[in-house]
Amino acid sequence: MVALTLGRPKRYAPVVSAVLDHWGRPLRSLRISVTDRCNLRCGYCMPEESYRWLPRRALLDFDELSRVARRFVELGVTRIRLTGGEPLLRRDLSRLVTRLAAIPGLDELALTTNGLMLEEQAADLAAAGLRRVTVSLDTLRRDRFEALTRRDGLEATLRGIEAARGHGLDQPLKLDTVVLRGENDDELLPLLAFAAEIDAEIRFIEYMDVGGATRWSEDRVVSQEAILATIGAAQGRPEPVAGRGSAPAARYRLPSGQIFGVIASTTVPFCGACDRARLTADGTLYHCLYGPRGLDLKAWLRDPEMDDETLRTRIAEAWRGRRDRGAEDRRRLPQRGALVPLEALRADPRLEMHTRGG
Ligand code: GTP
Ligand code: 5AD
Ligand code: SF4
Repeated sequence: MVALTLGRPKRYAPVVSAVLDHWGRPLRSLRISVTDRCNLRCGYCMPEESYRWLPRRALLDFDELSRVARRFVELGVTRIRLTGGEPLLRRDLSRLVTRLAAIPGLDELALTTNGLMLEEQAADLAAAGLRRVTVSLDTLRRDRFEALTRRDGLEATLRGIEAARGHGLDQPLKLDTVVLRGENDDELLPLLAFAAEIDAEIRFIEYMDVGGATRWSEDRVVSQEAILATIGAAQGRPEPVAGRGSAPAARYRLPSGQIFGVIASTTVPFCGACDRARLTADGTLYHCLYGPRGLDLKAWLRDPEMDDETLRTRIAEAWRGRRDRGAEDRRRLPQRGALVPLEALRADPRLEMHTRGG
């Protein structure tokens, strides 16, 4: 085993010293995309009419996912987040939650969802050991929701959020709002008020030029600076909250006491603190959200000769070789457009944000 075990006890498992990459960034967080399918078609993520999906036989099953997740935790990962596509489309997801929640040394298990199917699944997920969800919510207007997502789903999403609260998936409950100029940037204050009302922490996300965002252009981005100016003008100066650590969101406190976040990957990248690895549903390992190539863990997982120790060593080696700082590289470009052309997305769906899991 590559990572060293320190003597300090933490919960039931030992603290594992981290594996460091080329820039000294520790591997601490794993985001597992459990399906590339989605039941919405948000314009910033899935604007096309049709998509090429990962073949079903390529999806890692729950034994494979649990096995690989354990190796990551042995290497120092303390946080796992389930993503998609829409993760609640993965059949029997709560069975996977039960297995992941039982991994010693894992401090936090969370789920990012659009909330449409949360009302049906919240009770099972909570019973399986999930304690927190983040729900994507870009508008509170029914017509606009349909225009943004191509589905009349606002009511179901709001019921999903209620169900999450009712079943204790709110420790804490977060909302993610991608802000798009001319589409929902007039809703910052109503969304903030809604978050306060339901005791959730809302994060406003800058529109990112990730794979799949084929309609991205600079003029549609609402910057962190503009977001803070709008909120500040109405609510008083937002004060930065200290202790961000490796989190994508910079948090602010308003004079009212309400805390909200801004995820400014486009104008103020935070690659220097990135501790995240990503696994697609077909077992391809990526580090950076913008990274062009992944590593085929599925081939290793399905190799009968592959033992756990070798698997762990190889994952650690891959992390040690990590050098990417995708959002910073993009930030330096004189002229920015969509990251990946449509033909390339068709040729390799793993370049899509909805496959990579955000
Ligand atoms: P918590 O604060 O613990 O809830 O986690 P989180 O903020 O990492 O989770 P979430 O899935 O809600 O992430 C919100 C959004 O931040 C994602 O959908 C992305 O748009 C963006 N994001 C997350 N991780 C990264 C990252 O590594 N790099 C960049 N550039 N953006 C990221
Ligand atoms: N820009 C920013 N965030 C995005 N997401 C997907 N595509 C983009 C993009 N182009 C993230 C958002 C959203 C979740 C489904 O994925 O956080 O809420
Ligand atoms: Fe990490 Fe890449 Fe996001 Fe930078 S752009 S924070 S390196 S995932």
